[in-house]
Amino acid sequence: MNTENFKGFYKKSIAERQDTVAKEFGLNEQELALLKKEGPLSFAVADRMIENVIGTFPLPYGLAPNFNIDGKEYVVPFAIEEPSVVAAASNGAKLSSGFTTSADEAIMIGQIQVVGVKNGAEAAKKIESKKKELLEFLQTVDPVLVRFGGGPRDIKCFALKTTRGDMVDVHILVDVKDAMGANAINTMTEKVFPKIEEITGGKVVLRIISNLAVYRLARAKTTWTKESLTESTKGEVKGEDVVEGILNAYEYATATQFRATTHNKGIMNGIDAVVIATGNDFRAIEAGAHSFASYKRTYQPLTKYYKDKDGNLVGEIELPLALGLVGGATKVHPMAQLSLKILGVKTAQELARIIAAVGLSQNFAALRALSTEGIQRGHMRLHAKNIAVQAGASAEEIDFVAEKMAETKEVNQAKAESLLKELRAKK
Ligand code: HMG
Repeated sequence: MNTENFKGFYKKSIAERQDTVAKEFGLNEQELALLKKEGPLSFAVADRMIENVIGTFPLPYGLAPNFNIDGKEYVVPFAIEEPSVVAAASNGAKLSSGFTTSADEAIMIGQIQVVGVKNGAEAAKKIESKKKELLEFLQTVDPVLVRFGGGPRDIKCFALKTTRGDMVDVHILVDVKDAMGANAINTMTEKVFPKIEEITGGKVVLRIISNLAVYRLARAKTTWTKESLTESTKGEVKGEDVVEGILNAYEYATATQFRATTHNKGIMNGIDAVVIATGNDFRAIEAGAHSFASYKRTYQPLTKYYKDKDGNLVGEIELPLALGLVGGATKVHPMAQLSLKILGVKTAQELARIIAAVGLSQNFAALRALSTEGIQRGHMRLHAKNIAVQAGASAEEIDFVAEKMAETKEVNQAKAESLLKELRAKK
């Protein structure tokens, strides 16, 4: 590869970049065609979204039905590469008695780091004493946000002792309404910092949003009755036993971070899929969720489970969900717009409530499977199609090979290859 050809790559057109890539990596016609195929996200839009675009990268886009949230029915769009996630979320929602949810106002934190102060606590006090003036100034920074009912709400200061001396951690709390908030927040922190320097006599270094959105939490709660849990195992396991199994699984996650991490990964399977489908920033959501899992405690599961007085299973989830309906990819990605239309959401808070319910349903479905039949049966049945493709099955052969593998409970490439051989020999 001649690295010279990638210097100033960004100055080339998409077609020129594709040609360079084709030459440099020896792409054949089919491979080049993959790059040149334009999907729902046009090259013109993609090229404005990120840098050095050479194509677009599609993901499967599916719908999870059965979500009754606060009395309203939703089908939820997922964009994800992993088999059985959509089926599991739909299953958890189908088995539940409907979700009740809530979401906080969209208060985000802008952080300003002040260094070079002799006494952090005193500097923090000085800033707090000027809070009124600072908030009045911040009101003028984003008049559009203020017109929509948002804007700065509070300022909190924390003195930090560090190996590089005292610092002040200034938190500017802003209601960003239906935006994710990064732009509004970052602009405010950048505008206000000279005033902070003037007040403290220190020097401001970092000015940036915090992804630990502790004032912007969403919650969901539901009950799975013993009857629906018995039914979920086709009568093979009693509902009471499924409840006990899930409570054991939950307790396990509260007791060890190794399990809590995977427990939360299962929650994020569903959450990320909807966050991506709606064009939101899944890295921000992931960072916030995992950080919240250890906020003022050791790392814990983001859901909790207990029994109600009748012995049914109650599940709850709480996590920060900084989601936007305006700005960013949500506005420019046509598939994100389609997702919002399918969801019929009017506010970012409504989207957060739905996504919280998805996370809970997703987690329940995995725990139910794990604590009864094991994850492989349902997951591998659906993953079998992938294995069949990897073994070289054609479109007409995939279902046969996948079903046979699931039946024999041998879901692996060797089995797929031998089934294919058998099938082709019969032809
Ligand atoms: P089942 O009971 O064999 O299926 O479950 P069923 O045929 O009785 O169907 C029940 C419902 O599931 C259906 O209701 C659908 O809603 C849905 P219906 O519409 O028939 O009235 N469903 C499907 N939806 C779409 N396509 C399908 C489909 N099949 C069923 N093909 C199921 C099968 C896979 C749902 C179940 O076994 C399950 O929930 N398993 C959990 C799978 C899972 O959690 N996968 C996530 C990936 S694993 C992972 O990464 C996370 C993990 O590590 C997290 C952790 O450790 O906590 C496990």
